[in-house]
Amino acid sequence: MTERATGYAIIAGSGFESFAADTAGQWLETPFGMPSAEIRQLTYGTCKVSYLARHGDGRHLPAHRVNYRANLAALARLGVSDVLAVNTVGVIRAGLAPGALAVPVQLIDYTYGRDHSIYDENSATLDHVDFTRPFCDDLRAGLLQAGRTAGVACFDGGVYAVTQGPRLETAAEIDRLERDGADFVGMTLMPEAAIARELRMRFACLSLLVNHAAGRSEKGIYEDIETSMESATSHALRVLEAFFENLQ
Ligand code: HPA
Repeated sequence: MTERATGYAIIAGSGFESFAADTAGQWLETPFGMPSAEIRQLTYGTCKVSYLARHGDGRHLPAHRVNYRANLAALARLGVSDVLAVNTVGVIRAGLAPGALAVPVQLIDYTYGRDHSIYDENSATLDHVDFTRPFCDDLRAGLLQAGRTAGVACFDGGVYAVTQGPRLETAAEIDRLERDGADFVGMTLMPEAAIARELRMRFACLSLLVNHAAGRSEKGIYEDIETSMESATSHALRVLEAFFENLQ
């Protein structure tokens, strides 16, 4: 499998465990080590799209152990220029409910101890990338348009707080995130988004709202996830299909 990809890639995790599992893939070594999984080539109409399972096949890598640098560097080796990151989040913002989708516009990074930059002691260069606006406006617009095409409601905007995990948050931590301006909470967006920027890739995120954040519902978090994961995932798959349909 040596075919080169076109410029788009999807990186996905929870909810997508069996997605593309029977498609042949390619392991690609990088200066940062091996990516989470083989990179698979998907076909949407006339678009060839690279697909990477963020947590590995069989979901063995928790968010804080994912080699984000290798994942993005492997995609860059294939010529990927545009990344659609699909992830699950808890909902902080009142008025939004699990089962829905969102295309966040900002993020706050609370992670620590992750290899978060391609620039290290082995780098010949260093660039302090401008991260004022972490997401690509064109890709965000494309995802939102895809939602309209597919007839799937996608919330436009919001701030994604990225926590370290693997444990979920306390109710007080969620209150603090809300005071900080966060609308969603998840564990995988960083350093993925920043490394994509360092590699000069365009990047946007499609978030699956799968639970009320800690302390925000009478219902248990896992009960919430069980109820909403399937519909959020099937909505996300429809949005991705429409995204690539709209490019043709
Ligand atoms: N917190 C952190 N990460 C998550 C959550 C959450 O509530 N739901 C899905 N990913």
